[in-house]
Amino acid sequence: MPKAKNAKPAKTEKKKTTSEEPKPKKKVARLVKGMKDLLPEEQNYWSFVNKTAERLALEYGFMRLDTPVLEETNLFIRSIGKQTDVVQKEMFSFKDKGGSNLTLRPEFTAGLARAYIEHGMINQPQPVKLFTIGALFRHEKPQAGRYRQFHQFDVEVIGDEKPVIDAQVILLGYQYFKELGLDVNVQINSVGCKECRPKYVSALQQYYKGKRKVLCEDCKKRVTKNPLRLLDCKEEDCQELKAEAPQIVDWLCGNCKDHFMTVLDYLDEVNVPYLLNPYIVRGLDYYTQTAFEYFVAEEDEQKASLALGGGGRYDSLISMLGGREHTPAVGMALGLERVILALKQKEIQPPAVQKAEVFLAQLGNQARKKALHLFEELRAAGIVVVENFGKENLKAQLELANKHNVTYTLILGEKELMDETILIRDMDGGVQETIPLMKVVAEMKKRLKK
Ligand code: HAM
Repeated sequence: MPKAKNAKPAKTEKKKTTSEEPKPKKKVARLVKGMKDLLPEEQNYWSFVNKTAERLALEYGFMRLDTPVLEETNLFIRSIGKQTDVVQKEMFSFKDKGGSNLTLRPEFTAGLARAYIEHGMINQPQPVKLFTIGALFRHEKPQAGRYRQFHQFDVEVIGDEKPVIDAQVILLGYQYFKELGLDVNVQINSVGCKECRPKYVSALQQYYKGKRKVLCEDCKKRVTKNPLRLLDCKEEDCQELKAEAPQIVDWLCGNCKDHFMTVLDYLDEVNVPYLLNPYIVRGLDYYTQTAFEYFVAEEDEQKASLALGGGGRYDSLISMLGGREHTPAVGMALGLERVILALKQKEIQPPAVQKAEVFLAQLGNQARKKALHLFEELRAAGIVVVENFGKENLKAQLELANKHNVTYTLILGEKELMDETILIRDMDGGVQETIPLMKVVAEMKKRLKK
């Protein structure tokens, strides 16, 4: 019911607060641990790494395929492996309201393999080359370069077993870093196949059996549950032991050895620098044969650094997930937070996303109305305009124009409006000129060479 015109609002009884009683504090909303806001001042970096990734992938003949963030938990258990750190400790998994077990994707390969099978891509000309860029989730201990939500540029080539494909995937990653201005080296190994790896794994277990006491708690479990990961441990005592451990290259079968040597041969051919590293075993179970990682090339080789990315061959995954038997594949993923960190450490500036060219200043209500239209006309003409229509005084607007480092400021006041003119201020020399309002778009296009 409408209130009577002069009715006073009913008095509400105010609770008296004394000066001793502190006001209840409002809880400040905060980020979830391990998550990160990608702030406006960071966006030049993000645009640089994303656009370079997308352009390069298309140039190499990859097609973009974006999978959903949520997948069935089982997909990751089956592909990444039950005993891996990712599945054991790091997945964000939950039951949804319908009772399905779901997981926020911790990596892309499993989802892309599922999509390849589900969309019958086996019927397309092989190999199918897919790429994606997006966010992933792992419940890891947050630290520099390690987050709970992070982003990858991922490429997969499904349906060809030839070593030249491995080499071209590695080359793509190498070229990506080169285009960003980063000098990287590739560390490479072969993890064998289902014929030769089990023999190597038992030799490894044999070696570690008598040395259990010296191992860290995680590695004690790894001896039986995930022996290859013993080679990946960063604990000092475990590192010392691994120096004497048997190396997989000595156990590779003829086929795996040939494959590995041929990949290296192609890498030599295209001058991709690599180091043979017998400890690159990767943290995910689906790998067969080629395994590699990228690191920032440092003069001081001892300088420990996080891998910028990694990948390898996974010839059994598609059939393990219900796809056709013998569908070989190879791929890699680059961690974009770490790439940006490396760009900053090397003081590599990304190009500016968009430089503001014109500031549109207005004075008075009528001028503001006209400025709203003019903004649209300038924008449609391809001119990058900034404004602050909420500001009333000219000084504040000119300060903003300076801050944006624009080339010109257009000033539209009541007087200009009456004369149907507008003032152009050249921000370099401070020269001002009045021109007819109807000519301003053409004049700006001419001056800005649009
Ligand atoms: P990955 O080695 O687990 O491989 O991850 C690839 C890259 O993602 C790492 O080298 C790192 O740069 C980045 N990364 C991983 N975890 C985090 C984290 N918590 N915070 C920040 N960055 C992180 C894979 O994911 C495989 N799917 C790669 C692949 C594709 N293999 C075959 N195809």
